[in-house]
Amino acid sequence: MLQIQMNQRKGRSLMHLHGTSRINAEGRLEIGGCDVQLLAAEFGTPLYIVDEALVRQRMREYMDAFRATGIPFQVAYASKAFCTMAICAVAEQEGLSLDVVSGGELHTALKAGFPAKRIHFHGNNKTPEEILLALDAEIGCFVVDNFVELDLLDALAGERGKRVNILLRITPGVEAHTHDYISTGQQDSKFGFDLAGGAAFEAVKRASGKPNLELLGIHSHIGSQIFEVEGFRLAAAKAAEFAIKVRDELGILLRVINLGGGFGIRYTAEDKPLPAAAYVNAIADAVRTNFTAAQYPIPEIWIEPGRSIVGDAGTTLYTVGTTKDIPGIRKYVAVDGGMTDNPRPALYGSKYEAVLANRMNEPATDTVSIAGKCCESGDMLIWDIDLPPVKPGDLLAVFCTGAYNYAMSSNYNRIPRPAVVFVRDGQASLVVRRETYEDIVGNDLLPERLKAAPAAKN
Ligand code: LLP
Repeated sequence: MLQIQMNQRKGRSLMHLHGTSRINAEGRLEIGGCDVQLLAAEFGTPLYIVDEALVRQRMREYMDAFRATGIPFQVAYASKAFCTMAICAVAEQEGLSLDVVSGGELHTALKAGFPAKRIHFHGNNKTPEEILLALDAEIGCFVVDNFVELDLLDALAGERGKRVNILLRITPGVEAHTHDYISTGQQDSKFGFDLAGGAAFEAVKRASGKPNLELLGIHSHIGSQIFEVEGFRLAAAKAAEFAIKVRDELGILLRVINLGGGFGIRYTAEDKPLPAAAYVNAIADAVRTNFTAAQYPIPEIWIEPGRSIVGDAGTTLYTVGTTKDIPGIRKYVAVDGGMTDNPRPALYGSKYEAVLANRMNEPATDTVSIAGKCCESGDMLIWDIDLPPVKPGDLLAVFCTGAYNYAMSSNYNRIPRPAVVFVRDGQASLVVRRETYEDIVGNDLLPERLKAAPAAKN
């Protein structure tokens, strides 16, 4: 650690080896006991590498922190951050619940054998087909987002002869300090029933009159990549205030308060995340204090961490290809991936740290910028990073790419998606195979009339 701080960085931002990552005797990066150069040889690049032990540790940190509070809880992994059958299986083994936001995520979870009763279904525009899929699977809870869905879900549940558990998603008017694009708790949001304007109260009234819906409680999600507990305390207080009003005016008791996800992680030295227990304790304290003060039975607390479970456990490994030196201006180093496997820098201006994974102990004497291979100037992964002099064929490892990278990857420029491997105790298990060019054209159809078409006449 010390050595890498001195060698690979000129002091701009100190490299941060975490989880099971370390430098091995060959001076190469090792994750989960696997030398990444060997991973590159076996699975190719770009490659998403997931440190399974670190994922499990992150899951346990939330579970243990909640157990210590003595309040009944569910920790639902927000699978939108990274949804594959393998991660669903890990979440299941660790006793977590699962938050899904689409038929595709639900299907993935069910295929992985995730217990339907521990699945919560989110989304501001669930289609009738998605709702039916979830009803037939008998999932544990729907998080109802709006009045249209409330009516539709009740009607479809009735058709299926089922009564389903619901939470109502409310927009509590709490703005988390985060990037604008990923704030969802403020009043002007496409999500949920507005608290201040009275829609949330109206939704409780209507839900309680629906024969096929069982109202368990309310949900709020105040944003993402949040580094302070204040927003969560405030959201818990607002939820309590609302629950008390609902009890006093409608005689309805809410049994579940879901405070969503959004717990921050360390992408670079600028980020100062809190441990899971700090968020959990703040939430538990706020819920306990506010509900107890009103002689209200303490509700179950649910949360939905996504990024903070898988984010820092992910590393993307690239092979360096071309370089372009513009003297006095910039040196570009291009890798064999880019915005297709990590759209976050282009989309949000997100910053990442990286190392030359095959030469970890060499001094970082060059300042370079890492470019992707897409035909788009904005396809830059990292601006101005200090690395040892880079050669074609070197391996670049970008850290903290476990959340919203594979999940948001695309086939732009018809680039196949990378493989995903889970590494643990020296074993590498392929959990998503690399897409092939045949996969790329797999859904294309060439109508008969377009085959071997004669040259068009003028
Ligand atoms: N629950 C709800 C209702 C959510 O909307 C989200 C994230 C989460 C939980 C999980 O939040 P997390 O713990 O992962 O922050 N694509 C963006 C992030 C969008 C987050 C959307 N909602 C990014 O790459 O930063």
